[in-house]
Amino acid sequence: MSQRGDETIATRFAVNILHPALGAEVRGVDMRAPLTAAAFGELHDLWMRHLVLVFPGQHMTDGEHVTFTRHFGEPEIFHQQIIRSQRVPEIFRVSNVDDDGNLMPPEHPTVQQVSLAQLWHTDSSYRTIPCTGALLHGVEVSRTGGETQFTNMYLVYEALPDSLRRQVEGRKARHNFGNLHTLRDLKPLTEAERAAMPPVWQPMVRRHPVTGRKSLYISPIYNDEVEGMSPGAAKQLIEDLTGFAAETRFVYCHRWETDDVLLWDNRCTMHAVTPHDPRERRVMHRTTIMGDAPVLAG
Ligand SMILES: [Fe+2]
Repeated sequence: MSQRGDETIATRFAVNILHPALGAEVRGVDMRAPLTAAAFGELHDLWMRHLVLVFPGQHMTDGEHVTFTRHFGEPEIFHQQIIRSQRVPEIFRVSNVDDDGNLMPPEHPTVQQVSLAQLWHTDSSYRTIPCTGALLHGVEVSRTGGETQFTNMYLVYEALPDSLRRQVEGRKARHNFGNLHTLRDLKPLTEAERAAMPPVWQPMVRRHPVTGRKSLYISPIYNDEVEGMSPGAAKQLIEDLTGFAAETRFVYCHRWETDDVLLWDNRCTMHAVTPHDPRERRVMHRTTIMGDAPVLAG
């Protein structure tokens, strides 16, 4: 059974609510095994209801990870060689260990780029059609931090103070992958990488294509402009919205165990990783579920 508020739905899976705002642990799934359409339907309902699902004990290969992801849609292939796996291109490596298993120093450009996940964001919002969600597998989890925080952007939108709400309704913000380079000393983009991801404008309030609910849609590491605002005012607005979205009442923080897999909805959540000791290995493998339509304005 899964219960949130006064609604209860029947499911074959064992479901444990992790936080009042979002997040549920789901047991009874083996990601290496085929999934029937009926079981997938129940999982999808749970995902839409809880936004972030935690599946413990998924000891699987990257190939199995990719196969399971295809239940939800085609996996994205990341446009930068330094992050995607050389062996399985659908795998995005959130890691301070290189493809050959060597720990990289904190100043390495790849580690610098991965460390930007410590700032609030939603994945691939810089694409014309951003992703739907992502599945992250804890291959080697850190013990000194490296927890993943998620915030429920439906609730954030519903609770926005009028002063902020007025500034986002009917407005667009720009999402620019190149903005990462203003935040850290990263490996410069190649011409092809730059051409692959030109900046895009997305509505700041979006409507979820499945649930129909409205949510705030920002991705602070990529947002470099807001429609009709000076650079200073735009920066201030994104900072104010981010601070509000990070209030603990909206946030579930996940402490990883090896072989946890987390599934989240990038259309109605943001996430940020807590810092960890850079000398400790942290290897997380992500697949990203390709979106199938442009963002729907709310
Ligand atoms: Fe992310």
